[in-house]
Amino acid sequence: MTDNKVSVLFVCLGNICRSPSAEAVFKKKANDNGLKIMIDSAGTAGYHKGTAPDQRSQAVGENRGYSFAGLKCRKVIEQDFEEFDYILGMDNENIENLLAVCPAKFQHKVALLLSFTASDDQEVPDPYYGGKAGFEYVLDLIEQGADGFIEHLKTKHY
Ligand code: 4NP
Repeated sequence: MTDNKVSVLFVCLGNICRSPSAEAVFKKKANDNGLKIMIDSAGTAGYHKGTAPDQRSQAVGENRGYSFAGLKCRKVIEQDFEEFDYILGMDNENIENLLAVCPAKFQHKVALLLSFTASDDQEVPDPYYGGKAGFEYVLDLIEQGADGFIEHLKTKHY
């Protein structure tokens, strides 16, 4: 039983840095805005299946008040394309990987998270091999994307 009006799946490559961060940020912002939304995240690759988000993502996210409790890495599965209303990738490679396996009738669900912002930068870059500043920057972009997406949902669904 659910009274969620919409569902969103955030997607990156590994599902340990960017998309779990987007999930954590969006859960808080949806809750703060009183929006009931089914929220999940997944990776196009399955290298880290079952593991918790990267410690560096958790550290910068928790410092800004987001909870990563219970999040576990998983890979995108075909059923996701049917189940979720929005499938939001972090970068163009995520979008290419998603569209390569997404049935044609669901391809309209796939978009970049930052397409809901007016930002010139439309991609959230992979922070995995970089330093802490990269993780902070990723979170800045995710927060902007989440705010833009909340506004979109309010106009369209609530
Ligand atoms: P994410 O970052 O896609 O934001 O979760 C990555 C995590 C792990 C790897 C690449 C990107 N990796 O190659 O293991």
